Amino acid sequence: LELYLDSANLADIETLSRSLPLAGVTTNPSIMAAGGMGLTRLLPALTEILGADARFHVQVLSNTADGIIAEARKLHALPFDIVVKIPAHAEGLSAIKALKKHDIPLLATAIYNVQQGMLAALHGADYLAPYLNRIDNLGVDGLQVVGDLQAFIDQYQLPGKLLVASFKSVQQVLQVLKLGVKAVTLPSDIARQFLATPATHAAVENFSQDWRAVFADNLSYD
Ligand code: E4P
Repeated sequence: LELYLDSANLADIETLSRSLPLAGVTTNPSIMAAGGMGLTRLLPALTEILGADARFHVQVLSNTADGIIAEARKLHALPFDIVVKIPAHAEGLSAIKALKKHDIPLLATAIYNVQQGMLAALHGADYLAPYLNRIDNLGVDGLQVVGDLQAFIDQYQLPGKLLVASFKSVQQVLQVLKLGVKAVTLPSDIARQFLATPATHAAVENFSQDWRAVFADNLSYD
């Protein structure tokens, strides 16, 4: 299972990476704009924080197949482990088809229905990103779309893996993991909720009180 943070906020990534087993980060143009930093500064800073093995999913800004192809080649030439995110619309699918011949790691993004994901997977996209919560917001069952796509990948033994995105609750993340998806990306607030453990803190405080009642501040079993 690959776990990503859906963020370009260095402070968040620094803090959360201390406790989370992150494979890397995912971004999109909105996330990059919010982070306020271009790739030239961001990628070295993220490598410093996450290590040289970190994988970065970076979305193209162009909307035409030719523009996407040119941008993907530029991103792929950077000295980082970059997966190029390409929207799964007609122009994007055309770019994915062309780029796979050059063995560039690709993620088909902004997937709102099963057929988009199927086409991207058949073109050889390495990752497929269905937007769970945004699909739900359209009145469609996002979990069903994710489940159908996972079944399609399994049925035809396609190499692409789902990297499910757009979560608004921890529960949604746990539900898609039950479907056997191989990757998820968490917004910072959901990642923080994963690390919220009030009952554990209360239990540990009880242990400490019991210990201190007998041994005061001695923190050794010797
Ligand atoms: C992922 O890479 C997507 O761009 C992103 O997760 C969309 O999530 P949102 O619906 O929270 O904006």
